Amino acid sequence: MAKNFDTRPLSSALGAEILGLDLTRTFDTATTEELAEAWTENILLLFRKPDLDQGDHLRLAACFGRIGERPRPKEQRPEDFSKLHPAFMLISNIRENGKPIGSLPDGEMMFHHDTIYKKQPHLGTMLYAIEVPSTGGNTKFNNCYKAWDALPAAIQTRVVGHKAFHAYDYETIDHRQGVKPNAHGTLDSFWHPVVITHPRSGRRALYVDRLMTQRIDDLPQAESDAILATMFDVAERPEFVYEHVWTPGDLLLWDNLCSAHARTDFSINERRLLRRIQIEADAPPAA
Ligand code: SIN
Repeated sequence: MAKNFDTRPLSSALGAEILGLDLTRTFDTATTEELAEAWTENILLLFRKPDLDQGDHLRLAACFGRIGERPRPKEQRPEDFSKLHPAFMLISNIRENGKPIGSLPDGEMMFHHDTIYKKQPHLGTMLYAIEVPSTGGNTKFNNCYKAWDALPAAIQTRVVGHKAFHAYDYETIDHRQGVKPNAHGTLDSFWHPVVITHPRSGRRALYVDRLMTQRIDDLPQAESDAILATMFDVAERPEFVYEHVWTPGDLLLWDNLCSAHARTDFSINERRLLRRIQIEADAPPAA
């Protein structure tokens, strides 16, 4: 049991709020270790701190691992880096001179694992809410340990040892329709095991998602499609999902290896602004 802070469960699926911790101070080793344990156990952690500055945000992220490399080079990103530390990414629909000031600007997004299309996807993502719409733009998280455990045994047996192909296209992605390969050379893709063993918990997690996973290797296309459709439906069952309704000052940290996330729709006429940073994994995901 943690001694340096309290926890409050967010749902029966996953998630805990961390209470009684001053996010503006540097934590001692015991507190850092307890936070790491709480993250492994709960998959998703919520901290609340209005006006958390970039320095405090960076220091808190560094408690959980190495700060992540940005997937896209600085010159291809929309943020104004005269005001933002380069490790951060803005998620925003706010437009200046007609152009979004951040990435992933508008509307609904289907379930996905961040950077699953890379050889070594990020272990964690930390997202801090600055401005949120009056309704919608919620983020849903699922528990991929529970999803794996709930799959029919015949499917588990069939896919063990297989890999799935994941792709993401920064230019042409349609968040409602999924990813379609394009001719511009901007498609990032990689194969990973369909079920992975989490390096920290040692537990098996389903590692496919509706937005980015295209097919399973060495299976006929129709069988791959049918198995993936079942996996997506099981992984998104309400009992495995927590939906977070954002308030400015909320800071969420999630584990990308054992959880996928999705976003609900929101009005284009309302402002949404969040600051994101990622945590590196030590190695590519393994079966
Ligand atoms: C993301 O996928 O990192 C964005 C989630 C969100 O905007 O709620």
